[in-house]
Amino acid sequence: MTKQKIKIICVAAARPNFMKIAPLMEEFKKHKQFNPILIHTGQHYDYNMSGSFFKELKISKPKYNLGIKAGLHGEQTGKTMIEFEKICLKEKPNLVIVVGDVNATVACALVATKLQIKVAHVEAGLRSFDKNMPEEINRILTDHISDYLFCPTKTAVIHLKKEGIFKNVYNVGDIMYDVFLKNIKMAERKSKILTILSLQPKKYYLATIHRAENTNDRNKMKEIFNAFCEIKNIVLPCHPRAEKYLREYKLLDKVNKKINIIKPIGYLDMIWLLKNAKKVITDSGGLQKEAYFTKTPCITLRDQTEWPETLNNEWNKLVKIEEKIILKNILSSQTPKIQKNYFGNGKTSKQIVKTLIL
Ligand code: UD1
Repeated sequence: MTKQKIKIICVAAARPNFMKIAPLMEEFKKHKQFNPILIHTGQHYDYNMSGSFFKELKISKPKYNLGIKAGLHGEQTGKTMIEFEKICLKEKPNLVIVVGDVNATVACALVATKLQIKVAHVEAGLRSFDKNMPEEINRILTDHISDYLFCPTKTAVIHLKKEGIFKNVYNVGDIMYDVFLKNIKMAERKSKILTILSLQPKKYYLATIHRAENTNDRNKMKEIFNAFCEIKNIVLPCHPRAEKYLREYKLLDKVNKKINIIKPIGYLDMIWLLKNAKKVITDSGGLQKEAYFTKTPCITLRDQTEWPETLNNEWNKLVKIEEKIILKNILSSQTPKIQKNYFGNGKTSKQIVKTLIL
């Protein structure tokens, strides 16, 4: 009699999920006892925000695409739940794996747990302690209903303990480090982004802005982009949300004249652009850590970070959103020397799969 395989649904929804799902799917496929199924909720759908990551990171085509796209939070979360429940009822998986902190993370975890399907959360225990961020609410709720909690750092394990979560908590390292180590040499070989944008290594700044608490606030966007316009040698791959609000606030034309605004770029180009930048200025979560991996000093335009380890030795600085303060921090020298590794050994996906086999 053939033994039934363990059916695992992995959920991917938005840009920051794809690099976390890639090494997991690859690792599951190496083990015959698993039948991994990939589901794309379709929260991000453009080639620039989704397709290019599947191509470059060689992620196989999802078995299902739920076609959710953008919407208000309740709408996006609710639609994801409705569609994901149908898939769970049809596929009857043994386990659902969700990653990160996007709306689909909490939506799919909630559906699975109510159907008494086990849930694993990859990147558990991260906290910004700011409940104004939708991502913080998604993280807290997902952690409290998950059966397996795969934490990227010691700090994340401590956060869970403080919230009374002790069972099945594993510090497996950061899955984004797996992807980074696997692809940085390839980026060096393949990326032509510096030539395309006529950039000299360490002679430009890289910036990204997309968090709702920044983009949706006219004053904050003015302060940020007025500072950027003073600097000039900034390249900014622009998230669709940021572009939409720059247009709405009538800032886009001015900004376009002063700094190099480009469309969102793929993973290889991004890590190569980051490695060669003088500094990175961002409000992204993942990029702060990738800056740390590439040893590029980072300025984070937020009041808090989910990755406090990156603040040690000033690899990363939290900077208040005021034009003058931002300018001063971009232009001031930031040359951290010592760097400790807080993010594991780049074998996180292996450790997760090993834990699930036992
Ligand atoms: C989401 C995540 C956030 C993550 C970010 C990365 C939540 C709550 N937030 O925010 O944690 O850091 O993704 O990008 O889940 N759009 C396109 N093309 C696309 C995708 C989106 O044009 O392929 C547009 C949408 O129509 C919308 C805007 O971009 O106007 C924002 O998309 P949305 O899904 O609301 O979330 P993000 O802001 O990207």
